Amino acid sequence: MAEGKGYGKCIMFNEHFVVYGIPSIVSAIGDATVATAEETESGGTQLIDSRPATPGYKEEKKEQQEDSLRRILNAMNIPLNKNLRITLKGNLYAASGVGASAASCTAIARALSQLFDMELDDNRINEIAYEGEKGYHGTPSGVDNTASTYGGMIWFVKGEPSTFDPIKIPHPIEIVMGNTGTVANTKAAVAGVQERKEKNPELYDQLFNQARNVAHDARKALESSELKEVGRLMNVNHQLLQKIEVSNNDLDTLVETARKAGAFGAKMTGGGLGGYMVALTPGQSLQEKVAKAIEKKGFSVLKTKVGV
Ligand code: MEV
Repeated sequence: MAEGKGYGKCIMFNEHFVVYGIPSIVSAIGDATVATAEETESGGTQLIDSRPATPGYKEEKKEQQEDSLRRILNAMNIPLNKNLRITLKGNLYAASGVGASAASCTAIARALSQLFDMELDDNRINEIAYEGEKGYHGTPSGVDNTASTYGGMIWFVKGEPSTFDPIKIPHPIEIVMGNTGTVANTKAAVAGVQERKEKNPELYDQLFNQARNVAHDARKALESSELKEVGRLMNVNHQLLQKIEVSNNDLDTLVETARKAGAFGAKMTGGGLGGYMVALTPGQSLQEKVAKAIEKKGFSVLKTKVGV
């Protein structure tokens, strides 16, 4: 039986802005999806999804998942009706905002590469995972599959070609990710930004320039371990995301709760309009405190680290 892994991710700066070539900072998190693949006698290609998940997530994403798998098989020149069983598992929660789709695409590509002795390197796996992401996002920036494939903390700029390089931080940093429990549609969120940007080009240009500056300042702060400054910049980034209308009441409540409990900073993360928020909580005791405050409000949390 062949096996492959893809990391979950947390976008620390500039989701959405990244789609337009503004630099973003993303990190793999400790949680991952594992795919197994085996050849079968009959039945065509079967996908068994055994990941833990936000209620409703798998049903909502079923069609997108099927489209994604077709794209992965195509990209790998594997016939669409091949007798195969692919199983998804691992400890990454299948939910919006944690890179669940990208992690599954990466894991599947790696498992299939191993099953058919293709010996694909990470660059090729990343390209295939990007093709798979199109089933979920339409026109993904590529930031999620890059984090899922390579791990670590990454400076990512979409372009022709996209560029990325590792951001070196001295130690992994504790974070709390709070789950709104709402399954969000990233495609719709991205389309909404595009529509509003076309209607208000001047305002959006200003906001996009501010987002660019935030990313550059955040990179410096991360590399010099000025974590209070990183947190402050996350708060600024959340404000910008509110202004482009991709946050919502639950995300804002989670952000406020995390800040009141002592987080260095907090923001929504990923596509928004539901899904997850991320709070910077260096040290285990702060992480516990912030996680408890969020749980008290009735939301579930993921306690993990960035820079792993
Ligand atoms: C989704 O995780 C991140 C977005 O920026 C979309 C993308 O980059 O493709 C919202």
